[in-house]
Amino acid sequence: MTDSFETDVLIVGSGPAGGAASLFLSSYGVDNVVLTRYRWTANTPRAHITNQRTVELMRDMGIEDQITDKGTEHALMGQTAFCTSLAGEEIGRIRTWGTHPRRLADYTEASPTLPCDLPQTLFEPILVSTAATRGARVRFDTEYLSLEQDADGVTAHVRDRLSGSEYDIRAKYLIGADGGRSKVAQDIGLPMAGQMDVEGSMNIVFEADLSKYVAHRPSVLYWVLQPGAQIGGIGAGLIRMVRPWNEWLVVWGYDINQPPPVVDEAMATEIVHNLVGDDTIDVKLKGTSVWSVNHMYAEQASVGRVFCMGDAIHRHPPSNGLGSNTSIQDAYNLAWKLSLVLKGQASPALLSSYDEERVPIARQIVERANKSRTQFGQIFRALGMTPDAPAGRTIDSRKDDTPEGVAQRNELREAIELKDYEFNAHGVELGQRYASSAVVPDGTPEPAYERDAELYYHPTTWPGARIPHCWLTRGSETVSTLDVVGKGRFTVLTGIGGESWVKAAQAVSESLGLPIEAAVIGPGRELDDLYGDWARLREIPDNGCLVVRPDAHIAFRSSELPEDPTAALHEAFAAVLGR
Ligand code: FDA
Repeated sequence: MTDSFETDVLIVGSGPAGGAASLFLSSYGVDNVVLTRYRWTANTPRAHITNQRTVELMRDMGIEDQITDKGTEHALMGQTAFCTSLAGEEIGRIRTWGTHPRRLADYTEASPTLPCDLPQTLFEPILVSTAATRGARVRFDTEYLSLEQDADGVTAHVRDRLSGSEYDIRAKYLIGADGGRSKVAQDIGLPMAGQMDVEGSMNIVFEADLSKYVAHRPSVLYWVLQPGAQIGGIGAGLIRMVRPWNEWLVVWGYDINQPPPVVDEAMATEIVHNLVGDDTIDVKLKGTSVWSVNHMYAEQASVGRVFCMGDAIHRHPPSNGLGSNTSIQDAYNLAWKLSLVLKGQASPALLSSYDEERVPIARQIVERANKSRTQFGQIFRALGMTPDAPAGRTIDSRKDDTPEGVAQRNELREAIELKDYEFNAHGVELGQRYASSAVVPDGTPEPAYERDAELYYHPTTWPGARIPHCWLTRGSETVSTLDVVGKGRFTVLTGIGGESWVKAAQAVSESLGLPIEAAVIGPGRELDDLYGDWARLREIPDNGCLVVRPDAHIAFRSSELPEDPTAALHEAFAAVLGR
C-alpha cells in the first residue's frame, strides 16, 4: 500500500480563490482535490461585497440564485454614512455600490446581475459544496507542507492534522490559493513587490439589534470619524453589517509599531459601545481577530506547473471590496485554460497567458485599494482632524455662517465625493481587459475611455475585453449576451450574412477536436436583437465575427467576412490555444 494518491489538479486552500477554482474545474469535468488546513471553511465573515463580475461567474456556473438568496440584496447596500457615532451626528452620506439612481443605470446596463452582500462565511460553503457535488474531493484538516515539481507533475507533501500522518499527493498541476501568507508562493519563489504590515486593524464580530440606528439609511458600511479613528487599518472606525440589522463587524485600527493588542471582551464591548455611541445596547460578542493592511503584489504568478492566485498574489486592504472578488476571478481565468490543456485541446503554452493577464490586475487592485484607504485623509482634514487642517477648524465649524464655513463645507463634499473611487469604481470592478498570447489583436487601437476609466465601465468588443452585456431574445426567453457564451466553451457570434462563420466554426471544431458553439444573432434566427442594443454594442458589421473565450473575454474579432473564414478562424484558434 502506498501513502500517496493522484489527481489532475491539487488546490491548496478552500477560500474564495481555492473554492472557486475547485468549483470551476469540477464544473468543467476536471479531476481535482482541494485541501485546507482547517476543519471547515472561513470562520469569520471577512469579504462581503460581491461585485457584478463575480455574480456573473456564479450565473455561468448555474448558481446565481444561491448567491442572491443567501446575500443581502443590492437595494439595502448603499446608504453609506459618515458619522461621529451611529447614535451621534451624521456628517455625510454617499450612495454606494451603484445604488445612486444615475449609477444604478450604469450598473444595470452593464450586466445581467447586481452586486450583493454575501459574507465569506456563507459564500465559501456554497463554492466548496457545489464543487464537491460536481466531483471535487475536499480534504479538511489537511496542511500543505512542501512541493517538488518535475517535467510531468508536482508532488505535494501534506499532513493530516487529525492523525498527524504525512503523505504525498501527486498532481499534474498545483494551485496555490493559500492566502496572504502563502507558503506555496514562497516555496516556488514568486517575486513580490511592495510591503506587508503597513497598518494594524482589529475585527470585532458581534450580535446586537441596531435597527433603530440604521434601518432608515440601510447600508453595509457606516464610517465613524473620531479622533483616533484614523490610526491604523482602513482609515476610520467602521461598523459593517453582516446580516441586517442584528449581526455586525467592527473594524478599528491599532498602531502597527506597537505589539498587536489583546482584544478581550471588555475592550471589544467598549469599542463597540463607543462607535455605536450607545453603551446601553446589548452586545453579544462572537469573536475578535487582529490583521494587518498589506500593500504587496506578485510580479509573477506561476512557476512551471504551480500557479498561485488570490491573496497569495495580491495583498491589500478591504477598500473597494476587491479581494475575494479578484480571487474568484483569478480562478475563472485559469480554470478553463487548465481544463483545455488537460483534455489535450490546447497546448500547455496557453497557461502562460494566466500570468500575462492576471499579474497586471493584481498590481492594479493592490494600488487601487491602498489609494482608497489613504483617500480617507481628505475627510479627516475637512473635519479639522489632521495637523495640516486650517487653524480653528473643527467638526462643528462646518456649521458656521462664515467664509471658512463655506470653504469647509465645500471641501467636505468634495472629500466624500472622492470616495466614489472606492465605493462606485465600476470600471475597476467590471472593465478588465487582457493583452496576452490568448488574445488575437485585430489591429485597431484600444478604444479610448469616454469617462473616467476607474469609475465607469466602458463596453467594447475590442479583443481582450469582456463581451458587453445586453439583452437578446431566444423565442419567448430573454437572455443576456453573457448567457450565450461561457460554460467552459468557446462561442462564435455573428449576424445575418455571417452564416459562413458558423460553418467555419463547425469545421474548426472538428479539425481541432474542440467543442465550439456558434450563433447567428438577427431576425428569424435562434437569437434576436429585438431591442437593437447588440447592433449598437458589437462594433462589427452584420457579417463580422467575434470569438468569445470560455471566460467571456473576446479572443478574436473580424470586421469583415473573409474569403476563407475557416482559415481565418483556424488561425485564430491555433494562436489562442498554442497549437
Ligand atoms: P483566504 O485567506 O481566504 O484562504 C486561504 C485558504 O488557504 C484557507 O482555506 C486556508 O485554510 C488555506 N491554507 C493556508 N495555508 C495553508 C496550508 N499550509 N495548508 C493548507 N491550507 C492552507 N474582499 C472582497 O472581495 N470583498 C470584501 O468586501 C472584502 N472585505 C474584507 C473585509 C475584511 C475585514 C478583510 C480582512 C478582508 C476583506 N476582503 C474582502 C478580502 C478577502 O477576505 C480576501 O481577499 C480573500 O479571503 C482572499 O481569498 P483567498 O482564497 O485568496 O485566501
